[in-house]
Parts: sequence; C-alpha cells; structure tokens
Amino acid sequence: MTFILNEIAMQAPFFIGLAGEPDIRVAEETPADVGARENLLDAAFGPARREKTAERLREGRLPAQGLALVMKDSEQLVGTLRMWKILAGETPALLLGPLAIASAYRSRGLGRRLTAEALFRAVAAGHNAILLVGDAPYYEPFGFSRRHTLGLSLPGPVDEARFLGLEIKPGALKGAKGLVAAAGAHDWEAYGGSADYRRAA
Ligand SMILES: CC(C)(COP(=O)(O)OP(=O)(O)OC[C@H]1O[C@@H](n2cnc3c(N)ncnc32)[C@H](O)[C@@H]1OP(=O)(O)O)[C@@H](O)C(=O)NCCC(=O)NCCS
Repeated sequence: MTFILNEIAMQAPFFIGLAGEPDIRVAEETPADVGARENLLDAAFGPARREKTAERLREGRLPAQGLALVMKDSEQLVGTLRMWKILAGETPALLLGPLAIASAYRSRGLGRRLTAEALFRAVAAGHNAILLVGDAPYYEPFGFSRRHTLGLSLPGPVDEARFLGLEIKPGALKGAKGLVAAAGAHDWEAYGGSADYRRAA
C-alpha cells in the first residue's frame, strides 16, 4: 500500500475513520498519560531505548506543539507517537518517534492510523520536513526515503539505512547537510516542570 503525502493531508480524517473501531481514538497526550506511555515504551523497546541516538535529540526537550499523540481504546492507552523540533543542518524540521502500539493491538492498522494522523497534523501545522530513524519498509509507504538524509548526520551511531526523511514542502530537504540538532523548547518551560513529564522520552 502506498500513500502519497498530499493524499494523507487531504484524506487523513476520512482514512482514520475507516477502521471501524469507534472506541479507538487519537488525542493529544497529557501529563496524565505519562505513566501508561512509559510502560508501553518499556514493553515495546526495552530498557535500551534511552541509549538510542535519536534520544539525544529528545532528552531535555518538549515535543513539538500539538504533535505528542496517544491512541486510546476507551480510556486505555494503546499507542504513542511524538514529533520533535530539530534543525537538519540549517533546515528546520521534525523528528518522528518513538512510535509504539501495545502488542495486543498490533497488525490492525493502528500504527499506520496513528502515523497518518501525526503526518496530517504536521502538515496542518505548517512544518516542512520530517526525519526519523526506523524501519524503511514500514515508513516508505508514507513517502519517507533515505535519499533525503544523505547529506545529514546524527549525533551518534545509527544504521544509515534506517535514517529517513520526508519532504512535506517539495525540496525542503534539498541540499540539507550537516549535523541534526535538537531545536525544541527545553522541558522546564512547560507542564510546571513536571518530573514525570520530563523523564518521558
Ligand atoms: C511498529 C509498530 C508501531 C507497528 O504497529 P501496528 O499497529 O502493528 O502497525 P500496522 O497494523 O499499521 O501495520 C502492521 C504491518 O506493519 C508491518 N510491520 C510491523 N513492524 C514493522 C517493521 N518494524 N518493519 C516493517 N514492517 C513492519 C507488519 O508486518 C504488518 O504487516 P501486515 O499488516 O501485512 O501483517 C508496532 O509493531 C510496535 O509498536 N513495535 C514495537 C516498537 C517499534 O518497533 N516501533 C517502530 C520503530 S521503527
């Protein structure tokens, strides 16, 4: 299945409503979600998740405004996806991740739904480009490609085949080169300095 970004932008709400699971919804994350989200991430990635190079771009920062999303089945948190402001060399962009769906809910299309919803919101918020470190077979159908990150490097080791980019605005990553750096607001600037929120990657 191949999605084209403009189609996602145009049709995401319709697409999201297609799954026929009316109790499952996407919402912006709140501090009350932190505990369940942390448990989900621990189960999905294990304790080594904080050693990931992408974490160097997230630690100490807040997610991009409106782009920390959770998926819930009634009140139970079953999915999470965040995006973060970064500088790709000199180009403002977002970093997507982590994405996780609770194991009991996988292979029902929920990961794609949550990703599509996040992309839709990123487009609507006027962002120009998105980077991620993840499995190409999962993200390429959304338009992510290694070719957009060839001039860029991350602040730590990474399997380069998993370092992917997506241009929301055509050409946004053309010529982007240099180090990718965190650009989000520092985490003490919101949520009343909540320690629970700060420890959430
Ligand atoms: C990856 C993840 C978010 C997918 O969630 P999901 O709700 O199961 O995804 P969907 O139902 O939308 O899509 C499932 C399809 O994606 C495929 N898929 C799942 N993980 C994949 C991966 N890492 N690489 C390639 N394809 C993958 C499955 O084979 C499945 O294909 P099928 O429907 O033909 O069986 C979920 O498996 C998860 O949380 N994994 C642990 C954390 C993780 O790896 N996060 C992503 C980091 S790149």
